[in-house]
Amino acid sequence: MPRGQRDAHDRDVVRVLLVLASGTYKAADFLVAASSLSAEVVVVSDHLLAVPAEGRALTVDLDDPDAAAATIAAFAADRPVDAVVAADDRGVVAAAVAARRLGLAHNPPAAVAATRDKAAQRRALTAAGRAQPRWRLARAADDVEALAAQVGFPCVVKPVSLSGSRGVIRADDATAALVATARIRGILAVANADPFGPILVESFVPGGEVAVEALLRGGELTVLAVFDKPDPLDGPYFEETIYVTPSRLPPATLATVERAAAAAAAALGLVEGPVHAELRVDGDRVVVLELAARTIGGLCARTLRFGAGISLEEVVLHAALGRPLDGLCREVAASGVMMLPIPRSGVLDGVGGVDAARAVPGVVGVELSIPPGRRVWALPEGDRYLGFVFARGATPAAVEQALRTAHAQLDVRIR
Ligand SMILES: Nc1ncnc2c1ncn2[C@@H]1O[C@H](COP(=O)(O)OP(=O)(O)O)[C@@H](O)[C@H]1O
Ligand SMILES: [Mg+2]
Repeated sequence: MPRGQRDAHDRDVVRVLLVLASGTYKAADFLVAASSLSAEVVVVSDHLLAVPAEGRALTVDLDDPDAAAATIAAFAADRPVDAVVAADDRGVVAAAVAARRLGLAHNPPAAVAATRDKAAQRRALTAAGRAQPRWRLARAADDVEALAAQVGFPCVVKPVSLSGSRGVIRADDATAALVATARIRGILAVANADPFGPILVESFVPGGEVAVEALLRGGELTVLAVFDKPDPLDGPYFEETIYVTPSRLPPATLATVERAAAAAAAALGLVEGPVHAELRVDGDRVVVLELAARTIGGLCARTLRFGAGISLEEVVLHAALGRPLDGLCREVAASGVMMLPIPRSGVLDGVGGVDAARAVPGVVGVELSIPPGRRVWALPEGDRYLGFVFARGATPAAVEQALRTAHAQLDVRIR
């Protein structure tokens, strides 16, 4: 039942469906944000999460978006739903299909699906004439060495479906591209993806990297924050570490970055909801690496506060409910996060120095996300961060320094 067709009994209940895939870092932050809305929250997940009360959880197969949307529509038949919001990539297509069925503002499911497939994304950006790396798609029978030579060296070889830099490898010559491809096929097998599926071979775009957090409403993109990634990301593996906002790029470059992100979102056909874009800035040249129809990954959104202190998740939920967000601005302070890399594969014995890291001036939080005793993998095989350090300060430089100082206090013991 679409908005506006409610019966008298239900008129006052605002109901939000949160699509939370198993393993998402963002479940708690979206649940906290939803609880501030005075809305009824229904958790939609691919496994049974601990939810407060009966009738407030739906278990669906997020990898079958049509079936998931059918389950959601059946639920909504007697309990009208006002918004369907996915926390992570794995839920975005199901959320888009469900929102379309329910007559809510939504992204075209095909546009969202393209954000989850790096080859489909490259095709859409090519069709729209947007700047991006030169690219070739290597299918199982293709000659990877020849395709790599076509894009030029160094190149980057990557799976089309994974995230968090998993399986993303720089190759400096044809042999290295072949070796990287074999390694990626092994990673795909472990990730339960098709090990013989297509692999993307791209030209390596040099330069600094930035991330753009933005919100689309009715096709209009508003940039909420731009993060610099001050650690060089030159490979051979691309460990994401420090993100700091506001960006220290000159205003003219930032304007180009924002336009490029908006154009990429439009090229993909996205019109509603959060956008996380990653771009490279090489002098005057701005190149979109990729764009996702979700908020920033991991716990990194905790760096952002808007207006009177509202979170990014609250902004996203307000937008999904069609509520006004006029003139929304990020706070004045600089803020940042360091995603703690896993230095090598093994068994995590523990992390020392956490109290010392927390005591570093400017540090506002240290959160470890892997318990001791677990097996951990370094990139390119790895798929989790060890944890997150958060800092705030008067300037981006001070925040970056606080994050580096805190990281130096940590003693990561891997057996
Ligand atoms: N063509 C490229 N040129 C330079 N760096 C790249 C390229 N492709 C990927 N990278 C680096 O690898 C990181 C991860 O790659 P990306 O395509 O964003 O995959 P993921 O979904 O794993 O984040 C990027 O943030 C960037 O630092
Ligand atoms: Mg990325």
